[in-house]
Order: sequence, then C-alpha cells, then structure tokens
Amino acid sequence: MSKPFIMDHPLIHHKITLLRDKNTGAKEFRELTNEIATLMCYEATRDMPMKEVEIETPICICKAKVISGRKVAFVPILRAGLGMVDGLLSLVPAAKVGHIGMYRDPVNHLPVEYYCKLPADIQERDIIVLDPMLATGGSAVDAIDQLKKHGCSNIKFMCIIAAPEGVEALTKAHPDVQVYIGELDDHLNEHKYIVPGLGDAGDRIFGTK
Ligand code: PRP
Ligand code: URA
Repeated sequence: MSKPFIMDHPLIHHKITLLRDKNTGAKEFRELTNEIATLMCYEATRDMPMKEVEIETPICICKAKVISGRKVAFVPILRAGLGMVDGLLSLVPAAKVGHIGMYRDPVNHLPVEYYCKLPADIQERDIIVLDPMLATGGSAVDAIDQLKKHGCSNIKFMCIIAAPEGVEALTKAHPDVQVYIGELDDHLNEHKYIVPGLGDAGDRIFGTK
C-alpha cells in the first residue's frame, strides 16, 4: 500500500483557502476547483511511463521523451467531481471521461449510485477518480468497487479535501489505489461533513443552495 500523497505547494494551499471561504461565490468556486485539479494533475501524472523518440528540431536530429504506456480515463463522481474534469483535461486532452453518479443518503449518509457510464475500453486505461470531498469514504469506495467490477486495475483517487476517517476507509478497502489529497482536515461532524471543510461541494459548484 502506498501512503496517500498530500500536496504541499503554496499555490494549492492558497487556492484551497479561497475555496473554503463561505463568501466565495459559485463562479469563483468553479474556477478555483478546476485550477486546483490542474495543479494536482501535475503530481498525479508524475509516474507516467516515458519512451524515447527521434525528432528533428530546426537545429539537428535528437532523441526526445514522450509519454508512452496505457491511455488515461478520468472518472468524476457526480455531481461535485464534474468540477475538476476540465482542469485535468487541460493537461491531458486525449483522456476519455466516464461518469459515476452517487449521492449520500441524508439520513444514514451511505452512498446511493444512480448513474454509471464508462468508456467502452475503460479496463485498458489508467484511471483517476475525481471528487473534491473524501468524507466518510463511502462514495469513493463504492465508485472504485464499480470500476473494479468493470475490470479496471490501475486506479488513482484525487480529492481536494479529505477527512482522516475517509482516508482510512478508502485505503483499507482499496490498498492498491494511490490517493492524492489537496489538504487533510481534522474530523467529520455529526452530519458527516468535513471540519473545517468547505460545506457541500456540489451545492457550491452548482449554486443549488
Ligand atoms: C459529496 C461529495 C462526495 C461525497 C463524499 O457528494 O462530492 O461524493 O459527498 O462523502 P462520503 O465520503 O461520505 O461518501 P454528495 O453526496 O453531496 O452529492 P453531490 O455531489 O451530488 O452534491
Ligand atoms: N460532501 C461534501 O460536499 N462536503 C462534506 O463536507 C462532506 C461530504
């Protein structure tokens, strides 16, 4: 099992602080979510395999590196994961995008899946699952269960804010999944919201509250 990778970069900390602020409106919240996802993509793709090719610059022929290996898919967990997709596609435009729809039951806080549409060749792709919030971990664990049922193996999970409870649940259920976290928060409250957190990510992205 690899340890979760927790980001430590001034730009990411600064943007997450703006995201947490309750006075940040939906437009800025969406922009920040995508910008943070772009910065985190830099770390989450660091281990992409490379190969050497021969090219000709205006000066000479030389050997140069390009990305090789399997193709990539991004899988946002609806709704809030959608807010991260464009940020990652700006760096990996050839990636395909699958969608898994989940909401947390308001009473027992357990995830309920309502949608799943994945690229036909998903099992041949390296996958990054996207969700800004890892709270109890239920949604992430179930989404990754679903991907494994479809034959997927090389899966990473990226979130902007995580609670220790969610990290523990996810790494226990899926020790093979590398987890990337923007900032690790303190705990969950009695409603299973992350403290200090940023509130309900889906509502803040889509302005539904
Ligand atoms: C939020 C969030 C995660 C989930 C995290 O989604 O985007 O998917 O909660 O909580 P968990 O780790 O305890 O499962 P929500 O259920 O609010 O749905 P939404 O994105 O449609 O608002
Ligand atoms: N989902 C959210 O959007 N925020 C939380 O704090 C927990 C779950």
